[in-house]
Amino acid sequence: MKKNLTLGEAKKFIALKIKEIKKEVGKKNVLLALSGGVDSMVVGKILEKAIGNQLMLVHINSGLLRIGDSEWIIKKINQSSLKTNFKYVDASKIFLKNLKNIQDSEKKRKIIGYTFIDILTKTAKKNGITFLAQGTIYPDILESKNNIKAHHNVGGLPKKMDFKLIEPLKTLYKDEVRVVGKALGLEDDFLNKQPFPGPGLAVRCLGKITLERLNILKKSDKILREEFDKCGLSKKVWQFFTIISDVKRMGINKNKRFSGFVIIIRAVRSVDAMTAQAYEIPFNVLNTVVERITKLKFVSRVVYDLTPKPCGTIEWE
Ligand code: XMP
Repeated sequence: MKKNLTLGEAKKFIALKIKEIKKEVGKKNVLLALSGGVDSMVVGKILEKAIGNQLMLVHINSGLLRIGDSEWIIKKINQSSLKTNFKYVDASKIFLKNLKNIQDSEKKRKIIGYTFIDILTKTAKKNGITFLAQGTIYPDILESKNNIKAHHNVGGLPKKMDFKLIEPLKTLYKDEVRVVGKALGLEDDFLNKQPFPGPGLAVRCLGKITLERLNILKKSDKILREEFDKCGLSKKVWQFFTIISDVKRMGINKNKRFSGFVIIIRAVRSVDAMTAQAYEIPFNVLNTVVERITKLKFVSRVVYDLTPKPCGTIEWE
């Protein structure tokens, strides 16, 4: 069984990483993309301590984030000491174009990985940057190597890159990253943030991605989050989200039959994302969520997924 990382061990880990990064980077510059999640933010904090203003930050809005995600991270960065070397890139149109007609999830992950790297390479070249830092964690490597899925930051990377990679968290599990974040003094809203896949909503929009289905997915996800916030479940459930399936099924609206989308709700307990069990959402909460989601235009059905991991995975793709 994996031993829990203590705060003392986390502090030693941080000191060691700072030393290693200083030695490796020297006087060169490092680019880090902040997604808004805890992994990249922890890397940002470690790099800030190690190399100060040799660090350049970018937030790439892929258009595959949840409603409010980009605004939240931009606000957080602007309120912190990281704001001096920060650039925002809206690449939502590019991602959507590159993903057009792609159905296979592994292909989506790879395209997303390449698109991120392409944007980062252009940003780096303009700014004379040699190193690219990533918030890769151990399960990303494990799952990519074992062909479970290509995490965009591992299996989704091109074979040849113009960068050297810095990945200080690549030996850690999610729960350990959170302890390191705590040792760095990261605020609770980062530490308690639920995991969100690097490929974003692309892997929750099953099959071909269209702007229409992506928007329905975003709205359904917002409803779930609002209802979980209202009843205090957001703080208790390890990860929860909605998925839009690639099948259409019959529904009824204003006495007329229509063919609408199926939305799936996922809510799980987990510790390190390696195993997970469905969360027992109170029936009244589920009902309210279903009522609200079925009112969305073009949605005909909502289902709750009880599959554990294994045999399922937390995400559907
Ligand atoms: P699965 O679906 O593999 O998810 O059971 C385990 C945890 O990892 C997240 N996840 C990802 N995170 N890139 C990421 O950065 C990915 O490609 C990816 N796929 C899954 C997932 O949300 C869950 O917390």
